[in-house]
Amino acid sequence: MHIVHTIAELRAHLSPFRRPAFVPTMGNLHDGHIALVKQAKPLGDVTVSSIFVNRLQFAPHEDFDSYPRTLDADAQRLEAAGCDVVFAPREKDLYPEPQTFKVHPATDLSDMLEGHFRPGFFIGVSTVVLKLFSCVFAGMPSGVAAFGKKDYQQVLVVRRMVQQFALPIEILAGETQRAEDGLALSSRNGYLSPAERLEAAQLVQALRALGDAARAAALPDLPALEAQAMQALARRGWKPDYLTVRRRSDLQPPQGPLAELPLVVLGAAKLGNTRLIDNLEI
Ligand code: PAF
Repeated sequence: MHIVHTIAELRAHLSPFRRPAFVPTMGNLHDGHIALVKQAKPLGDVTVSSIFVNRLQFAPHEDFDSYPRTLDADAQRLEAAGCDVVFAPREKDLYPEPQTFKVHPATDLSDMLEGHFRPGFFIGVSTVVLKLFSCVFAGMPSGVAAFGKKDYQQVLVVRRMVQQFALPIEILAGETQRAEDGLALSSRNGYLSPAERLEAAQLVQALRALGDAARAAALPDLPALEAQAMQALARRGWKPDYLTVRRRSDLQPPQGPLAELPLVVLGAAKLGNTRLIDNLEI
């Protein structure tokens, strides 16, 4: 496996190939990332993963500086998973000058939920993903890029971007990997204290309970069910941003019979200083 830092080195290593399978990450890898690499690998002729903590998607008060940087351990895990090339650019490699050209995703998709609570987040994500795609896929007839469904809204934003810019890239959405108690694997779980770690699985339980209640309810009752679910988490000491039932296709509030529509229950809440997000398709 090759570890490269510059765009030129990356392109040199990829030049013999025609269909990269790409897994972008911010490092501090867990089994969810590794599952994505294994799923993507058979779909391309070379497997690439990027490790880059993207300043553009962090607000000034967020955890950009403390985000764990664990390149050596990540590289070992990627090599064991069959990755061929790791692209780990330094900031000066990817952003040699301030990135003043940015991608502004459709606001109907990106200003709600995560975008509402993290203004500018999807501008930062879309900009770096388009730039990484250009580093990996430029000149390639086709490719595949894998993203985890834990970041459900991110997958939709990236899919729409790929569609609107007519990029010849297939987007693979990998299932969320979970710990035994149901907690979705996330690099940020490492911030949790032992007591918080025990409590953390309550988020997915709250989503499951809300999903079950929504399936049995009528549409007008949904706002009250969502409010109750947030209050129940708040009583346990969480600070919920949202717990909500949405259409899978565009994350808009559902219209029509809740028992029949393809829906997803999404949630984000802070436990101590750690903000966790999760979702369940129902
Ligand atoms: O999901 C992530 O880890 C990041 O948002 C991504 C897609 C690597 C862009 O920085």
